[in-house]
Amino acid sequence: MLMNKTALITGGSSGIGLATAKLFLENGARVAITGRDAASLKQASDALGGDVLTLEADVRSSEDLQRMAATVKEQFGSLDILFANAGVAFVTPLGKTTEEQFDKLMDINVKGTFFTIQAVEPVMREGASIILNTAWLNQVGAPGRGALSASKAAVRSLARTLSAELLPRRIRVNAVSPGLIETPILRGVGQSEHPGQSDAEFKAYIQGAVDMIPIGRLGNAEEIAGAVLFLASDASSYMLGSELVVDGGFGQL
Ligand SMILES: NC(=O)c1ccc[n+]([C@@H]2O[C@H](COP(=O)([O-])OP(=O)(O)OC[C@H]3O[C@@H](n4cnc5c(N)ncnc54)[C@H](OP(=O)(O)O)[C@@H]3O)[C@@H](O)[C@H]2O)c1
Repeated sequence: MLMNKTALITGGSSGIGLATAKLFLENGARVAITGRDAASLKQASDALGGDVLTLEADVRSSEDLQRMAATVKEQFGSLDILFANAGVAFVTPLGKTTEEQFDKLMDINVKGTFFTIQAVEPVMREGASIILNTAWLNQVGAPGRGALSASKAAVRSLARTLSAELLPRRIRVNAVSPGLIETPILRGVGQSEHPGQSDAEFKAYIQGAVDMIPIGRLGNAEEIAGAVLFLASDASSYMLGSELVVDGGFGQL
């Protein structure tokens, strides 16, 4: 589906980004993945069979983003697909949230996504596809998640605005909206809500969430990767500024 295409996946060293990198490679793309941690990138590259470009880059650093875009241009010439996926998640109840916590969520999830696109867009080919990673949280009112949900609502909004803005270059921007997906990020969310949470408490915490998901289970990263592949490919050529929800019905039913 992606033969001869080039793709950049931010936050490709773990979870959804890593599963997407694997699927893109299986579909014939040349793939670059980013993350902050060199060891995780190396581990991801090994898991992907080594045929992947790894780039250490923090989406909060404009220097890193410029270097990332320059390397992609040098190695790939141009880019057909950007999956702006890097993100963090933690709980911030209104009365307990520090400015630092609020800024961290906005800096990585919103500002990081915006400036990733700004840095990479000049390298993108006409007719390219950009996929953003929002979340089911942009559709519901989940207590304790004000800053996180607002950050993902902003990402959802960027898909519309930037799709309109990049229309002259025929670059499509859409968003994938995962529900609760079994990746390392969930443990951090649990710890932020219940510091010191044990493994058994975490299991019960997740079960509590699963009980509320209509399909009756967490999603897995491959199920999101499949949706991203669709948005990245020509199969979604008539989609602009949209949101593809993959959440087991959590925010829908
Ligand atoms: N799992 C879910 O339930 C769920 C639901 C809805 C939306 N999402 C979204 O899906 C995306 C991927 O999350 P995931 O579940 O796959 O979690 P994950 O396994 O923790 O992966 C997060 C990825 O983002 C990278 N990252 C984090 N901060 C970064 C930064 N400042 N600069 C560059 N890379 C950074 C991480 O690498 P380093 O730490 O090495 O930088 C890692 O590769 C996130 O945007 C998340 O909000 C997840």
